[in-house]
Formats: sequence, structure tokens, C-alpha cells
Amino acid sequence: ETSLAHVDETVPEPNRLQNRLVDNPHEHTQFANTPDTDPALPGNREWARQIIAAIPQSTLGVDTVRKHTITDAKTLEATLATAVDAAPAWAALGGEKRASVLRAAAVELEKRRAQLIEVAASECGKTIEQADPEISEAIDFANYYAQLAQDLDTLDGARAIPVKLTVVTPPWNFPIAIPAGSTLAALAAGSSVVIKPATQASRCGSVMVEALWAALDSVGVSRDVLQLAHVSEGELGQVLVSDPRVDRLILTGAFETAELFQSFRPDLQLLAETSGKNSIIVTPHADLDLAVKDVVNSAFGHAGQKCSAASLVILVGSVGRSQRFRNQLLDAVSGLKVAFPDDPTAQVGPVIEAPEGKLKHVLTQLEPGESWAIEPRLLSEDGRLWSPGVKTGVTPGSEYHLTEYFGPVLGIMVVDSLEQAIAAQNATDYGLTAGLHSLDPAEIAQWTSSVEAGNLYVNRGITGAIVRRQPFGGWKRSAVGAGTKAGGPNYLFGLTDWESVPAAG
Ligand code: ALA
Repeated sequence: ETSLAHVDETVPEPNRLQNRLVDNPHEHTQFANTPDTDPALPGNREWARQIIAAIPQSTLGVDTVRKHTITDAKTLEATLATAVDAAPAWAALGGEKRASVLRAAAVELEKRRAQLIEVAASECGKTIEQADPEISEAIDFANYYAQLAQDLDTLDGARAIPVKLTVVTPPWNFPIAIPAGSTLAALAAGSSVVIKPATQASRCGSVMVEALWAALDSVGVSRDVLQLAHVSEGELGQVLVSDPRVDRLILTGAFETAELFQSFRPDLQLLAETSGKNSIIVTPHADLDLAVKDVVNSAFGHAGQKCSAASLVILVGSVGRSQRFRNQLLDAVSGLKVAFPDDPTAQVGPVIEAPEGKLKHVLTQLEPGESWAIEPRLLSEDGRLWSPGVKTGVTPGSEYHLTEYFGPVLGIMVVDSLEQAIAAQNATDYGLTAGLHSLDPAEIAQWTSSVEAGNLYVNRGITGAIVRRQPFGGWKRSAVGAGTKAGGPNYLFGLTDWESVPAAG
């Protein structure tokens, strides 16, 4: 023995750990991301036209879609009891068999791609262009978590013990991918699921669950393991969240909702992906044309209603002082086609409901020092269709800088240095996505090592995380509970209990 520290070759360094995950044989042989529909192919254009033709006019622009029968207290109790009773048989199937159900779910979701796009468009105002990747993402979750379900059975030194009941409370802004991903993860981990779709996205939730039920049928497994509960957010929602039989709850929503759920039941084991206030930094070393494209897409995709959206662009030094970037950005924003999704040329659709509260405030008011470079305008009688707004003069520490709005407004802040830009990016309570546009390796290294966010993106947009390639989830008030990342290698770990067993060999 020498006094030098023993170097243990079996302990992975960060980079080797990355390589190991990629070197996992399942990763190569079984999982590949599903492509989106290519809109350039003539056949696909006709397909999209048919989807648009199927969007019921009665549901566009008016709030007539929340017609699902709301589950009453007695039915909710039966739903919970059925799910819990179904759990042991589901867990006993083992990872391989559960994986086959998930792979069947991928097939059923793909079969329903057109229908799922249509409900996301008509119920939640998603344009076809925004909805199509959601279906791909749902399919990716199914195939990826199938693989993780198999891996759970083969871990060395630890045994995953499935829990009985996971409740899933997804949001309306990704009305297919997030409900599907959360549900599939819990099923993969061996738990029964009760899913409560967002009231604004109840049809989406139903069509997605029908696809998963069809998958269970095709493998000959009882549907009881997946229960659908259309519950209003009030009293019954509280009953559902507070029920002592709930072992895990997967929430995607506001930070305040996660706090409320914990107040209902302090011992609740929550996996929550919560709010974000995200920005993109553009330095003088950026490809400015690329930066404009990525900022516009990240700010105004789905009318800015993404927890991952860019709400602020921070211009460094000469980028802020010159007019070039600003003019290109404003030209691009002015050129966006704002329309309901039954218009095939729509690029920015409606907000989910006529704005109230802080969204109304940000669309109609300026803070001291701010001015509109492009003022948002209301374009529809129902109050939902707004042309995108761009405000300049956002200052560090201001209300706009620190608040999440969830709508079609982008702020511009100008700073002198990258250090100041990073400080501004980190100053919020949240840490979900963050972007940098720079081609300088030193700037990229400086930024990467000091940004406080879960998903960092260099020279690309900051929305649209891809399953396995960009596991999704944040820091600070952007995550509550287990804090693992959806679409990443350890997501199922928080959804099971664990027992240590002697390591093999
Ligand atoms: N996972 C979604 C995105 O990355 C929220 O945009």
C-alpha cells in the first residue's frame, strides 16, 4: 500500500457514466426516436388537410369543450379501489411483459396520430405543426420506458418493488405527450395508474387513454390497471390527491399547485415538473440569423404556453447596441401567421382561455422603463387569439424579468457582459430551460458551468426536449419532489420502492 489514494476503475467519472448509458445494449438495439411527420411530402400535406377538415368548428374559439361527465365521489372511490386491486397482478407480470404492453402502446398511439393531433388542435388550440411532435414524443416515452422497465428487473444490488397506485395530474399545454409519458412511466415501473386529465384537455386525455387500453387488450392484460377520472379541480380533486392509498403523484403544473398538493397531504411522494421563467442569451459571437429563428420559435411556439418557453432574450454588448439583431427579430415576429389551427397556415394559435390575471396584465401593461417594440393585439372576439408582443427595456430584477406568464410575449434585456447575462438568467426562482447563442467555445464553457437550470441548450431553441437525448426537468422552483428527469435513464427510480439485495458476483 502506498499513501496515494486508490483509484477505483469501477467508479465512473461523469463522462464515462454518459458513455456507459449509451453503451447499454438496450440503448443501441431497441430504442430510436420516432420521426415527426414530414410536411414537405405531398401525401403528408393531404393528410394534414384532412385533419384540419375534421376539426369541429363548434369547438374553436369558444369554451364549449369541457363537457366530459365529471366523475362523482362514488365513482371516484370505485376507480381508486379498482386500480389498487389490479396492482398486484400488474406488478407480478414483471418488466418484460410490462414492456410488451408499452411497446404495444407505441403502436396504438402511432395508429391514432391523426386523431390525437385533431383533439389537441380543437381542444387546446395547438397548431398541426406543434401537435405532431407531441405524438412522436408520446411514442418515444412508450418505447423508452419499455426498455427501462426491462432494465429495472436486472439492476445489481437493488430490487425495485412496485408501488400500488400512482395518480397522474397532467397539464393542458402538452395534452398528449405529458399525460402519456407520466402514465407510461408509472405503468412501466409496475404501478396502477389513475389519471386525471386537465379539465381543458379532457378529450385529449380520453383519446390517449383509449390508445393505452387498446394496448393492454392486445397483450391480453386487464384494463383495470389504468383508470381515467375526469375530476374537477375543486373538492374531488382534493379527495383524489389526499387519498392515503396514493403512493406516488406525478404532477406537471405550476409550482403553487405542487405546494397546494403537499399541503393536502404532507407525506405525499410527489414527482412534480413545475414552473419556468426561461431566457436565451445572445452574444456578439453568435450566428445571429440562427439566434433569431430559435428565439422566435422558443418564444411563440404554442403561443408561448410552455413551461420551457423563452420569455426573455438577453442581448450582450454590441448585439444589444446595434439594430441588426433587433430588426431581424421584429421582422420575424411581425411575419408570424396568427390563427386558429383550422387555418393550415397558422403558426401561432390561441391561448387556452381569454387572459386574466398576470397574463392579461403582461399583454396589456408596461412597467416603468419598458416600451412595446411590437404591441400585442387581440384578434378574436372570444379573447383568445393574440398577436405576439415584444417589449424592450426589461431591467434586471423587474417584475417581467422574474415572473412566469405563459403567453405570447417576449421581453428584450440588454446587458454589457456575459457575466451580467448569466447573473440575469440565474436570478429567477426557477431553473427549467436556458439557452445560449454563441460560437465561441470559451463562452460556451463559461456559460455551461454557471447556469442554474435543468435543461441547457446551446445554439438551438430551448423547447422541444427529445426523449433520451434531452431528459427533461428543472432545478429550484421548477421541480418539486424526486426531481428526476422525464425521458431520462433514472425516471422510473422515483416511481418504485427499493430493497437492497446482495450484489451478484
Ligand atoms: N418537454 C417540453 C419541452 O421541452 C415541455 O418543451
